[in-house]
Amino acid sequence: MSCPLRAAPAAALGLLLLLGRLAGSSAAGGPGSPSCPAPCRCFGDLLDCSRLKLSRVPERLPQGVVQLDLSHNRLSSIKASSLSHLHSLREIKLNNNELEIIPNLGPVSANITLLSLTSNKIGGILPEHLKPFQSLETLDLSNNNISELKTASFPSLQLKYLYINSNRITSMEPGAFDSLSSTLQVLKLNRNKISAIPQKMFKLSHLQHLELNRNKIKKIDGLTFQGLTALKSLKMQRNGINRLMDGAFWGLTNMEVLQLDHNNLTEITKGWLYGLLMLQQLHLSQNAISRISPDAWEFCQKLSELDLTFNHLARLDDSSFVGLSLLVGLYIGNNKVNYIADCAFRGLSSLQTLDLKNNEISWTIEDMNGAFSGLDKLRMLVLQGNRIRSITKKAFSGLDALEHLDLSNNAIMSVQGNAFSQMKKLEEL
Ligand SMILES: *[C@@H]1O[C@H](CO)[C@@H](O)[C@H](O)[C@H]1NC(C)=O
Ligand SMILES: *[C@@H]1O[C@H](CO)[C@@H](O)[C@H](O)[C@H]1NC(C)=O
Ligand SMILES: *[C@@H]1O[C@H](CO)[C@@H](O)[C@H](O)[C@H]1NC(C)=O
Repeated sequence: MSCPLRAAPAAALGLLLLLGRLAGSSAAGGPGSPSCPAPCRCFGDLLDCSRLKLSRVPERLPQGVVQLDLSHNRLSSIKASSLSHLHSLREIKLNNNELEIIPNLGPVSANITLLSLTSNKIGGILPEHLKPFQSLETLDLSNNNISELKTASFPSLQLKYLYINSNRITSMEPGAFDSLSSTLQVLKLNRNKISAIPQKMFKLSHLQHLELNRNKIKKIDGLTFQGLTALKSLKMQRNGINRLMDGAFWGLTNMEVLQLDHNNLTEITKGWLYGLLMLQQLHLSQNAISRISPDAWEFCQKLSELDLTFNHLARLDDSSFVGLSLLVGLYIGNNKVNYIADCAFRGLSSLQTLDLKNNEISWTIEDMNGAFSGLDKLRMLVLQGNRIRSITKKAFSGLDALEHLDLSNNAIMSVQGNAFSQMKKLEEL
C-alpha cells in the first residue's frame, strides 16, 4: 500500500480498504498490486493523474486500473506503449490537454468504453483515428476546434453518447452520423455555428435526445428530422429560428419534449406541429409569438405543459387552446394579453396551473363573464402584475378547486361581495 493514503489515520485507512474490497476491486495500489506511481492518486480502480502538469503519461501505471484520469495536464501526444499493459482499462479522461488529434492509445483502445477529450485543440474527426475504439460507448469532444462533420467522419462504432458541444462546426454533410445509426442514443451539438440542417441528416433510429442549442439555425424545412423515430427530446434554444416550414418536425412521432425557447418565432400553426402526436412539453418562451392559429393543436392532444412566457400575445381567442384536454400547466406570463375571449380556456379540463402574470388584463365589471369557467381542476391562478381594477361575483365562477390565487400588483379598487366564496379550497390569496 503506497498511495498517498499512507498519511491517513489508521481507522480511515482500514475503512477505505474495506470499502475497496466490498466493491470487489482489484484495486490499483491495493494489497499485492504494483504501487501507485507518485504523484498520481489511487482510489480503488481509479487512477487519478490529473492536474500534475504532466507532458507525458507516467511509466509503470498499475495493471488493474479501470479508470484513468489524465485531465488538466500538458499532454500533446500519448505514448501508446505506456498503456499497453492496462488490460482492464475501460475509461480514460484526457480533458484539458494539448491534443490536436484523437490520440492513438494502442491495443487497449479496443476495450475503452468512455473517452473524454474535452478542451483540447482537436481540429477534426478522422475515421482512422476512431476505428480502433470498437467498444466505445461515450465520446466527448466538446470544446475543441472541429469545424466540419463529413460523411465519412465516423467509422462503424458502438457509440451511444456523442458530445461535440462548443466547437466551430459550420457544416454537416448528410449522412455524417449514418454509421452510428444502430447504437447512438444521445447527440449533443450545442454551441456551434450550424446554420442549416441538410435533408436526411439524421438517420438515427435509436436516437432519444438531440441537442442543437446555441447554433445559427434560422429556418427548418419540412422533413428535416425524418428518420428519428425514437427521439424523445429535441432542444433548439437560442438559434434565432424565424421560420418553421410545414412538416418541420414530421416523423418525430415519439417525441415528448420540444424546446424552442429564445428564438424568433412569430406564430403557432398546425403546419409545423404536424405529426407531433406524443408531444407532452412545448417550450416557446422568449420568442416573438403573436398568433396561435385556430386549429394549431390538432396533432398535439397529449400536450401537458405549454410555456409561452415572454412572447407578444395580445389576444387569447375562443380557439387558442382547443383540443388540449390533457394540458396541466399553461404559462403565458410576460406577454401583452389585453383580451381574453369568454371561452378561451374551454376544454382545458385537466389544467392545474394558469399563469397570466405581467400582462395587460384590465377587466371591468362589464366584461367579466366567467372567463375561467370550465377550469374545474385549476389549483393555481396567477394574475399578478396586470391592470385589474375590479373583481365581480362572477369573475372566478367555476374555479372550485383553486388553492392559490395571486392578484398582487394590480390596481384593484372594488371587490363584489362573495367573489371568492365558492373557492372552498383556497389556501392563499
Ligand atoms: C480487453 O479486455 C479483456 C477482458 O478483460 C482482456 O482479456 C484483454 O486483454 C483486453 N485487451 C487488451 C488489448 O488489453
Ligand atoms: C483552430 O483551427 C484553425 C484552422 O481551422 C486554426 O487556424 C486555429 O489556430 C485553431 N485554433 C486553435 C485554438 O487551435
Ligand atoms: C429576430 O427578428 C428581428 C426582426 O426581424 C431581428 O431584428 C432580430 O435580430 C432577430 N433576432 C435573432 C436572435 O435572430
